[in-house]
Amino acid sequence: MFVNQSRLPHVLPPRLYCCAEQFELEQEKIFATAWQYVAATEQLNKPGDFVTANVNGLPVIVRNFDGKLRAFLNVCPHRHSLLTNEAAGNTPQLECQYHGWQFGSDGATKRIPEAGTFKPMPGGAECLRSLQLASVGPCVMVRSADAAELPEEQWPLLKERFDEFPVQRWQHVRSWDYEFPANWKIVAENTVESYHVPTVHPKTLVRFGSEEEMEHNLAEQSSSMHSPIVSPKLYHWTTQRLLPWLELGLNNRYNIYHAFPNLFWIRIDAMLQVMQVLPLAAERSKMQVSVFVLRGRKPNLINKAISRGWGRFKVAIIKRVLAEDARLFPGLQQGARNSPFAGTISTREELVHNFQSYVARACELDELLKV
Ligand code: FES
Ligand SMILES: [Fe+2]
Repeated sequence: MFVNQSRLPHVLPPRLYCCAEQFELEQEKIFATAWQYVAATEQLNKPGDFVTANVNGLPVIVRNFDGKLRAFLNVCPHRHSLLTNEAAGNTPQLECQYHGWQFGSDGATKRIPEAGTFKPMPGGAECLRSLQLASVGPCVMVRSADAAELPEEQWPLLKERFDEFPVQRWQHVRSWDYEFPANWKIVAENTVESYHVPTVHPKTLVRFGSEEEMEHNLAEQSSSMHSPIVSPKLYHWTTQRLLPWLELGLNNRYNIYHAFPNLFWIRIDAMLQVMQVLPLAAERSKMQVSVFVLRGRKPNLINKAISRGWGRFKVAIIKRVLAEDARLFPGLQQGARNSPFAGTISTREELVHNFQSYVARACELDELLKV
C-alpha cells in the first residue's frame, strides 16, 4: 500500500534543479557531512590494499592496516602533495609519493627520510588528517567532515536489510560510472519512482506491482519501496532453476532503499546494486554503480559458476535499464529549465515527495514546506 492517499505537491520548484545558488547551498547544507560510498569492502581485503576517492571535493585515501580500515585526507603534511595519484593498489607502507614520508594506522609519521634535517618538528610527529569511516553491508563509506549520526542511526530501514546476509556472502562483481547532463535530484527522483516503468522500461523491467502488492516506507532520512516485478518469462524460469543453489527462498521482489541524500541500495533475488549520484554542477551529475552477487552458502564449483554467471547477467540488464533512463535526462533537465508549471506528484511517486521534502528541510527552505 502507499502511505498517502491523495496527490502531493511538487515541493521543489523547477529552478532549484538548474541554478548555481541552489547547487552551492546543497553542497554546504547536504553534502558537507554526507556519507559517501568509496569502495566495496572486498576491494580492501588484504593488508596494504588502498583506494583513493573524491569525497565532497576532498581527495581521500582508505587503506587496510593489518585488517583495520582507516580513512585519511590524501594530502601530505610535509609539502601538501597527494600521498598517491593511483586509484587503487597495494603497498607495504602508506608512503607519500613525493619524498617518502611514511605513516602508521593512526596517521602519525613512522619514518621520515633524513629526519634529523627537520628538527625540531613543529607539531611533534606530523599527522595525516583522519576521516570518519563506516561499513554498510559490503560497502565502505567515508565522510569529509565529522557529524554525530552513524549510518545505522541515520538509515534504520537499511540496517534491517543488511542483517539478512553477512558481508562475506556478497561478492563484488563490477563498479562503473556515468556522467549525466542533469541535476543530481532529477537522477535521484527517477531512481525511486515506479510510475515511469511501463513507458520507459517496457521490455526490461516490464511493470511493477499494483498498489495492493507494493509497500512504501517513508522516513525522515530514507525511503524504501518493495514491489513484485513482472519480468520476462525466461527470467522467471532461470531464477527458479538456478538461484536455489545459492540460497533458498530468493524471489524477484524489487527492494529499493534510498538513503538520503544520494545513495540507493537495490536488492532483487541474489543481486545487490549500490548506486550513488553526485552533483558535479547545477546541471551535471555523476552516477557510480557497484554490483554485488550473493555467494552460495557452501563454496563449491557449481555455486561459484552460478554466482559468476548471475553477476554478469545482472550487470548486462542494469546497463540496459540505466541506458533507458539516461536517454531521458537531457530532456528532463531542459524541461526543468523552461517549465512554467508547479508540477504535481502521485501517491505512486510519494518517495519523490519524501525526498524533495528532505531537500527543502535540509536547505532550510521552509516556505516550500508550507504548501
Ligand atoms: S610532500 Fe609528502 S613527503 Fe614531501
Ligand atoms: Fe528507470
